Amino acid sequence: MSAATAREVTEDAVEFDPFSQDFFDGAYDTYRRLRDEAPVYYNAKWDFWALTRYADVAPGTKDHELFSSAKGATLDTVKAHDDAIPAPKVIISMDPPEHEKMRKLVSKVFTPRAIAALEDMVRAKIYECLEAVDPRSFDIVADFSALFPNEVITTMLGVPKEDRDQIRHWLDLLLLRRPGEIATTKEGYEASMKTGIYYYNLIQKRRAQPQDDMISRLIETEIERDGVVEELTDVDISGFATMLGGAGAETVTKLVGNAMVSFADFPDQWRKLREDRSKIPAAVEELLRFEPPSQYQVRTATRDVTYYGTTIPAGSAVLLVTGSATRDERMFENPDVLDVDRERKMGFNLAFGYGVHSCLGAALARMESRIALDALLDLIPEYEVDRDGLRRVAMSNVCGWSNVPVRLRAG
Ligand code: HEM
Repeated sequence: MSAATAREVTEDAVEFDPFSQDFFDGAYDTYRRLRDEAPVYYNAKWDFWALTRYADVAPGTKDHELFSSAKGATLDTVKAHDDAIPAPKVIISMDPPEHEKMRKLVSKVFTPRAIAALEDMVRAKIYECLEAVDPRSFDIVADFSALFPNEVITTMLGVPKEDRDQIRHWLDLLLLRRPGEIATTKEGYEASMKTGIYYYNLIQKRRAQPQDDMISRLIETEIERDGVVEELTDVDISGFATMLGGAGAETVTKLVGNAMVSFADFPDQWRKLREDRSKIPAAVEELLRFEPPSQYQVRTATRDVTYYGTTIPAGSAVLLVTGSATRDERMFENPDVLDVDRERKMGFNLAFGYGVHSCLGAALARMESRIALDALLDLIPEYEVDRDGLRRVAMSNVCGWSNVPVRLRAG
């Protein structure tokens, strides 16, 4: 970093630490200050840069040539020493052309038709989870939204029922971050290895005896490029299956938990949905804007790039902070207000990413969230959150609750 750049950034008082309680609590005040006072921000403790304005985050997320994913999608992997044990390569940490090949292969099992065909299964899982709760008093996350997305994904993949909870516990261990610690814990690392080995073994079973599940379909998938037939290896499939737990289960868990706290803060919006269920899809989009479960995407700058007179040097870790961009008052009117009738603008949903890595499971996530909200509107048409019982998760990249106790209120 040049002397001028260093001086500029150290004079800046605002601090953003994605491994602090401030981040885990929802760092929206910090984000506002960053957008106003330090739209290009440098954190010396963890040695990363952050962009927080919509006008920078959106094009930055799209520009995979400037901002590479190849060193990883979390700060600890990006910052890992070059001699660290390399994590298996997964789609989210690939750049084109490698990414293009992988995306083409896995997209074959994520076609709109394939996702639409899952609706009955998704509905059944959601209602099954809700039937087990006492609507007078239960925990939206612990008793519901932490359970069904994992059920959905593991069922899609073909994990037998008795193993699905184990997969979820391993995932929780992998994502857990202790405040002030950048990397997954030793237990988390072991849990991710166990998940990978579990899927590897399942793949061997499906190779011997294919079933009607995603792992069997991924085994069969192939694409042809320049006359060469390409297919997924067992390591590719097990890495992809492991990644889906984090990418597809935790995010939906957080969205539904965040939703019910947000609706308690904006009860008129819940009432609007109750009166007109056709607003549910728009409400899902607004909830994603209001509190994106994935708060930032990590990239590595491939060359020097200058924002507002400050240069981010080539090779730097850069956080593209979606959680801030979707609250940017330069883009959204009254951004801190949840408004299910909000006018939707182009590129509105940065919460699913943008560009080559945009969320592969967006259609599934939207479907799950829509069905879950509809079911909750029936179950707890009037509710209150027991705020003393609210607990936040401490995780990398994602923000949300581990506990959201609610009570049914008489209508
Ligand atoms: C509310 C729920 C969800 C949110 C907020 C979300 C968000 C995101 C974001 C922001 C990205 C881009 C990451 C980047 O640019 O580095 C992404 C990628 C991805 N998501 Fe999701 N996601 C959700 C649900 C799901 C589900 C249900 C699945 C699958 C079952 C899924 C699978 C994926 C995959 C495979 C990628 C990587 C795509 C690629 O690298 O080409 N996601 N997601």
